[in-house]
Amino acid sequence: MKRKRRILVTSALPYANGPIHLGHLAGAYLPADIYVRYQRLKGNDVLFICGTDEHGVPITITAEKKGVSPQEVVDYYHQNHKEVFQRFGISFDNFSRTSLRIHHRTAQEFFLRLYRKNLLVTKTEQQFYCEKCKRFLADRYVEGTCPYCHREGARGDQCEACGKWLEPRLLVEPKCVICGNTPVIRDTTHWYLPLGRFQEQIKKWIDTKTHWRDNVKNFCYGWFKEGLEDRAVTRDLDWGIPVPLKGSEGKVLYVWFEAPIGYISSTKEWAKRIGQPDRWKDYWLNPETQLVHFIGKDNIVFHAIVWPAVLMGRGDYVLPSDIPANEFLNIEGRKISTSRNYAIWLEDYLNKFPPDPLRYVLTSIAPETKDADFSWRDFQARYNFELADILGNFVHRTLTFVEKYFSGRVPVPGEWDELDREALQALQTFPQRIGDYLDRFEFRQAVRAMMDLARFANKYFNDQEPWATRKTDPVRCATTLYLCLELTRTLAVVMSPFLPFSARRVWQMLNLDGDVEKQEWDRCGELQLRPGHVLGRAQILFPKIPDEVIQREIDLLNRIAEGADTGETDEQKKLLEKTKERLMEYVSFDDFQKLDLRVAKILEAERVPGTDRLLRIQIDLGTEKRQIVAGIAKAYRPEELVGKSIVVVANLEPAVIRGVESNGMLLAASVNERISLLTLDREIEPGAKVK
Ligand code: 2FM
Ligand code: ZN
Repeated sequence: MKRKRRILVTSALPYANGPIHLGHLAGAYLPADIYVRYQRLKGNDVLFICGTDEHGVPITITAEKKGVSPQEVVDYYHQNHKEVFQRFGISFDNFSRTSLRIHHRTAQEFFLRLYRKNLLVTKTEQQFYCEKCKRFLADRYVEGTCPYCHREGARGDQCEACGKWLEPRLLVEPKCVICGNTPVIRDTTHWYLPLGRFQEQIKKWIDTKTHWRDNVKNFCYGWFKEGLEDRAVTRDLDWGIPVPLKGSEGKVLYVWFEAPIGYISSTKEWAKRIGQPDRWKDYWLNPETQLVHFIGKDNIVFHAIVWPAVLMGRGDYVLPSDIPANEFLNIEGRKISTSRNYAIWLEDYLNKFPPDPLRYVLTSIAPETKDADFSWRDFQARYNFELADILGNFVHRTLTFVEKYFSGRVPVPGEWDELDREALQALQTFPQRIGDYLDRFEFRQAVRAMMDLARFANKYFNDQEPWATRKTDPVRCATTLYLCLELTRTLAVVMSPFLPFSARRVWQMLNLDGDVEKQEWDRCGELQLRPGHVLGRAQILFPKIPDEVIQREIDLLNRIAEGADTGETDEQKKLLEKTKERLMEYVSFDDFQKLDLRVAKILEAERVPGTDRLLRIQIDLGTEKRQIVAGIAKAYRPEELVGKSIVVVANLEPAVIRGVESNGMLLAASVNERISLLTLDREIEPGAKVK
């Protein structure tokens, strides 16, 4: 028996500061998902890891611009990303977040380990400081003119125009992005990773990666040529993972130092969730593991140079074996711009169309070796002329034919003729061919080969002319349809990495047991259908998309490009509404005084029977005892509440909640499902007024 391979696949952790768009999908998520789904069908031990990147300047700038807290931004987008990825069929085994304690600890431990091995050096250097905002302007907090290409709008960490990685203090005519002021220069001390010390080792290691894509290797060699320099791994920011050393107050780990460690923490979270907390080690501490990072090209330096240096510095973790980085995706010939909202947001797409057509088209045009362009007309053409006319048509004509002339049962085949033998050959060879492409990360070729099998199947159907042999040679006709059904079944399996939702529907139409995702790739070309087996009902897989539907999408993009539409998703608008909600109208002091806020001590607490959210709580208000009902049972166990001093609105009209009287309301903060009770930071007697 063939040995199972152990494969750990990661997709770049998306910043939780904006919605997912097609560029993200084409770069790091869709190819990874296709690869993972294929490896699962191959029977390999594959784990697919991701999560949101919740620290760093992109997050805090979004928060400041929207007037909400960074926590609100990341809570919101974590949930949002999780949902849209799921709707799109991205089958992560774990989708974590870098704000979790498990990640903070893991990242701090990494930092300390390097520190103790003398692999971090401190340096005091000059940095921009905004006297108005009273802070150092790390990374994107400062913008100016690029010192290399002299174009305006270069950010502190990188110039998008020439792609150079910048030291912020080199920017010409710097400005604080928040207040527009010209910053001053101040000294600050940071920890640096001396990348130069690793250059030889990293270069030797990359030299052995003969199978890596040229774009990735050439990029790295470009860096080696210039010589690797020390890189700061800490920042002066208040949002992030605190540097775990004394005397480092106000400093956090640089987001690009800790984010890749998120792949490890997410694996740890997964291991815990499945009840085998040490399982993460089987992947990360096992030299047999094939670690594959799917990323966009803007992430190459971090994954192919900085991250391996960190791992080599540590010494005990597995190094990446593949980094299939993709180039960029343009939309209708223009660059995607999240700041101008020129993008197609996944969520908007999914509110209008099913996931599979986009999965198909993005894979067919995947930016594997050069930038690619998504256009709605091309989308429509590939959908109508390939998915509908070739794949959908073959499945539909086969099933309706069998429904009509074989009472919906798998016919009994006769002897094979020449064309049948070709079909048997195709059943054998196509899965292998498609799989070889996938193993080499050649997704465009793989999806094309998948469609070629459907093309072959249609041709086989046409050449065999079952509509004629039905009358002249019924056994021949039965044989043809038997093989067409086998081709349909094999197609369902080989299409499932690319088109998982449609593959499931084909499986249902064939009325087969089990899941199409659980089949064996290597055996899916063998004849498996039992003559007489009753099939399900034929359905149209891909109803054609009419011109006017596509025109609407083109018009929308044009309006955004002209600045006549904000291009925001419904969800983004909601986040803004939330901001407005925060900035509610002023109330007078008199109005505020109408609320009688009091300190109360919790005496007893118990669940309200028959509910999973409500607690019945007895409180001491100093002058009297009261009963209140609060919806906090998911966040607090009754016994942990007893003895706590909390704040209640004492003069709220009594109400009966689920048949239980509630006389007052406790105060708590909440974000989504997370709840935190307002408690007091020092002892004060029950009944004290809160004002
Ligand atoms: O470019 C980005 O969106 C980053 N948030 C990717 C991080 S990948 C990894 F290192 F976590
Ligand atoms: Zn400022």
